[in-house]
This record gives sequence, structure tokens and C-alpha cells, in this order.
Amino acid sequence: MAGRTPIYEGKAKTLYEGPDPGTLIQYFKDDATAFNNKKKDSISGKGVINNRISEFIFERLTEIGIPNHFIKRLNMREQLIYAVEIIPIEVIVRNYVAGSFAERFKAEEGEPIGGPLIEFCLKDDKLGDPFIAEEHIYAFDLCDPVELEEIRLHTIRINDYLSGLFRGCGIRLADMKLEFGRQYDETGYPMLMLADEISPDNCRLWDIKTGEKMDKDRFRRDLGGVSEYYREVANRLGISTGMNTMELVEPEEVDTDIEKKPTVRKAHRKPKLASRKPGKK
Ligand SMILES: Nc1ncnc2c1ncn2[C@@H]1O[C@H](COP(=O)(O)OP(=O)(O)OP(=O)(O)O)[C@@H](O)[C@H]1O
Ligand SMILES: [Mg+2]
Repeated sequence: MAGRTPIYEGKAKTLYEGPDPGTLIQYFKDDATAFNNKKKDSISGKGVINNRISEFIFERLTEIGIPNHFIKRLNMREQLIYAVEIIPIEVIVRNYVAGSFAERFKAEEGEPIGGPLIEFCLKDDKLGDPFIAEEHIYAFDLCDPVELEEIRLHTIRINDYLSGLFRGCGIRLADMKLEFGRQYDETGYPMLMLADEISPDNCRLWDIKTGEKMDKDRFRRDLGGVSEYYREVANRLGISTGMNTMELVEPEEVDTDIEKKPTVRKAHRKPKLASRKPGKK
């Protein structure tokens, strides 16, 4: 990491300047936080496992044509990604009752919801990521209806695909949180991309047979075995994390050969009007 320029220090990841314009390096830390940063700890090896799980999932999503920021994994803890303008909305998709949904509606955790249910939260830690409706999204000019529709379609497709993928290895995808961003082409036209990470940090994953939690709820609820269960998710997906021998190895030298990147599909929709807001260029 020597010589890198950090551009954002998050709770679970650090973003560094990438080797080429428009790229970033996403470094996965072992830090775990919950309840809006009130609970904190370090889970040895978590960053290594999440880097591998997220790589695996983003590669599968590329194969089914979901435009996303992932270019390639660089080493144990880092991946090369496209820099995007993050849309400050947390997109939550729920298949089973859990977490804040159970509390809000006094519903029984584990009950099926009866089809994917999408919720939106404003991505703002200071406000505690409040729940927002579609009307807030337009009122705060977070995105326009065309973009929101695209976010919804991608979210449903990602959820369907990943529900099947996890089911195939005995895991129930109860819910997950997605982040999307915009990558602008030379003409200034925005292309929507899935960004951030998909890992047991932002998905609820339950063992289908035993109901055991295999995600960040193990940390939130002090259930223990966090990294063991994360590793089990990786194992079930057929990913080797190489953690027995390489756990303590520092990141290898960065391989900056960007040519090996998978092709990212162009957005299908036509350019829309340049302005998102009247009078805005
Ligand atoms: N391709 C990308 N381009 C730019 N920013 C990105 C990209 N992918 C993810 N990010 C942002 O990088 C940060 C990742 O760090 P981390 O997940 O640790 O943040 P965080 O502490 O959870 O904060 P936040 O509440 O902003 O998510 C997030 O703010 C995420 O929105
Ligand atoms: Mg985050």
C-alpha cells in the first residue's frame, strides 16, 4: 500500500487512487461495525474473505450482463474497480423478514415476505441512513425516474440470480443491500453500475437446513464464529480463500494490467436529457 493515495476511508474498506484515470483500488479491511458505528471490532481475516466472495459474485453478475464496477482482484485484500459517482441510496431487497423490517412491522424473523420487496434508505451515516420513499428520491434529486426504474430492474435480477446461486449451496438469501453509481462516458452520458461489495457484510445468509446465520448478524448479535461462518459461505460457493497458509501475507505487488478486465456492457437505454434538474448542466 506504500505510496498509494487514499481517497476515502470507510468503515469496512479504504479506497485508493487507481493506476489509470477512472479507476480505484478497493481495499477490504478486517474492521467490523454495526448500529451506525456504535459497535466496532476487528475480525481477523474478514477482509480477505469478503474480497474473494465479492469478486466471485461480481464476476457471476458480469456473466449475466449486470454492468458493475469490478475489473479484477489484485491480491488478498484489494480489487481494481471503476470509479463511479455513488448514488446516495441504499437499495435493500428483502425475501424473508429480518432485522429492521422485523422490528418496524413487529413481524416474525424468518417469515417469507412473499416476493422480493425493495426498500430505499438515504446513504447518510450522520442521519442514521433513514428510510425514504420514491418521492424523497425525486425531492432530494438523488436520481430520476428512468434511473430508478433501471435500479429496480437490476436489483430484482440480481436478487433472483443470487437467491438461486445461494440456494444451490444450501444457503437462503434473506435480504441484501446494494449500492449503485454512475460512470460517465466521454459525452457526459451516465451509465448505471452496481458498485461497492456483495458479501456476508451486506447480505443476510441463513443455512437452509439449520437456519444458522452466516452473515454480519453473527457480529451484530454476538453469536461468535464470524470469520468461520464467512469462510463457510466462501467454501460453499467453491471459493478457496487460501487463508490457512496466507492469512498473514501482506498484499502482493499491484498488478496494474487493466487489459485483463472483463468487458462491461454499455447501457442499453438512449441518452436522456442532459439535465437532471431544470437549469442544471
Ligand atoms: N466504484 C466505486 N466508486 C466510488 N466509490 C465507491 C465505489 N464502490 C464503493 N464506493 C464507496 O466506497 C465506500 C466503501 O467503503 P465502506 O463500505 O467501508 O464505507 P462505509 O463506511 O460503509 O460508508 P458508507 O456509509 O459510505 O458506505 C462507500 O462509501 C461506497 O459507497
Ligand atoms: Mg459500506
